[in-house]
Amino acid sequence: MSTDRKSAQQSVRVALGARSYDILIGDSLLARASDIMTPHLASPKVVIVSDETVAGLYRDKINLGGLEAHWVVFPPGESTKSFENLQHVLDEMFTHGLERNDALIAFGGGVIGDLTGFAASVYKRGCRFVQIPTTLLSQVDSSVGGKTAINVRHGKNLVGAFYQPQLVLSDMSVLSTLPERELKAGYAEVLKYGLLGDAKFFSWLETNGTKILSGDKAATSEAVRVSCETKARIVAEDEQERGVRALLNLGHTFGHALEAEAGYDGDLLHGEAVSAGMEMAYEFSARMGLCAPEDVVRLQDHLSALDMTRTSELAHLFKSPENLLSHMDQDKKNEHGALTLILARGIGDAFVQKSADRHDVSNYLQYLSLKYSS
Ligand code: NAD
Ligand code: GLY
Repeated sequence: MSTDRKSAQQSVRVALGARSYDILIGDSLLARASDIMTPHLASPKVVIVSDETVAGLYRDKINLGGLEAHWVVFPPGESTKSFENLQHVLDEMFTHGLERNDALIAFGGGVIGDLTGFAASVYKRGCRFVQIPTTLLSQVDSSVGGKTAINVRHGKNLVGAFYQPQLVLSDMSVLSTLPERELKAGYAEVLKYGLLGDAKFFSWLETNGTKILSGDKAATSEAVRVSCETKARIVAEDEQERGVRALLNLGHTFGHALEAEAGYDGDLLHGEAVSAGMEMAYEFSARMGLCAPEDVVRLQDHLSALDMTRTSELAHLFKSPENLLSHMDQDKKNEHGALTLILARGIGDAFVQKSADRHDVSNYLQYLSLKYSS
């Protein structure tokens, strides 16, 4: 990590040899976007992809002076991550005559980042790419580490590539316009880094979580820095998720099942599913005797102190344990038809459990179904 005192800008390096890059974290970076990006661009020609909400709020505030910028703006929402829109981005790039050394810029949340990154990975076999994430979730997770994807009718994120950006530019000031629900969804991914390997960070979040959710920029940028450092370390060790990177999926296998059951139409945000999924991973771990019940209570207490538990609203998603298990069967981490889960021995101590016992998982899901039906 390095800190530039004059502008209170911090940077985290993702060390991947020739594909290494910096994540810049600071305030009011949008106003200097052009100056910051230019050293990473080989030409002034860029296509900038955004959604209507972000473009509506920030198109006039992002400084693209000196660049020949062509905007592509999509409706907000998960359905934007489609084949059709991938085609649209590529068409715009061809129309404006982009060469491989010209750049694509993703300016938005994880939906825009994932779609744009995938387009960058396939355009003329790979062009330059900059991420400007505008949600807390995208600043701490989706913009870092090079996972890009679109959704297809067979499921979410099933077509994509590992493709790293040249630069990530995370401006804390854009989070002031983020709806509280989206901020909390992003906070779940922040919490994930504490739970999976950093008990001290979890304790820090127990003290500072409220500040983050109330918009304190210093606390938020510290949380973004620590989250990015953890993710950068894991990605540098295992870029293509052959091993340790799977830990970043803590809460995701259970969470994705809830998301699939909810139907991706905004009823349950990705971060909300991850939050519920992490609670389930800890509760399941405790049932298996792997972690102390007190750790589950500690996690639940923290979520409830931040008003992040939506149990009564989510109850209907637990109705069919069979459906949830069949969604879990589609998980990308599974091998030879056996479930892979990220489980925990305690706060800050997660591990990858290959070939998890289906019977135990099924029993747990049945227990939840009964619990939430009463
Ligand atoms: P999102 O991109 O849909 O953004 C959430 C909402 O916030 C949208 O309505 C958007 O218009 C709005 N918004 C964005 N920035 C704003 C701002 N500054 N002010 C006001 N409104 C703003 O959702 P997300 O939570 O950022 O990302 C979720 C997506 O990320 C999912 O598709 C998920 O699969 C993906 N994801 C990818 C990775 C990865 O490693 N590639 C990791 C986690 C999640
Ligand atoms: N969001 C999980 C990963 O990047 O691996």
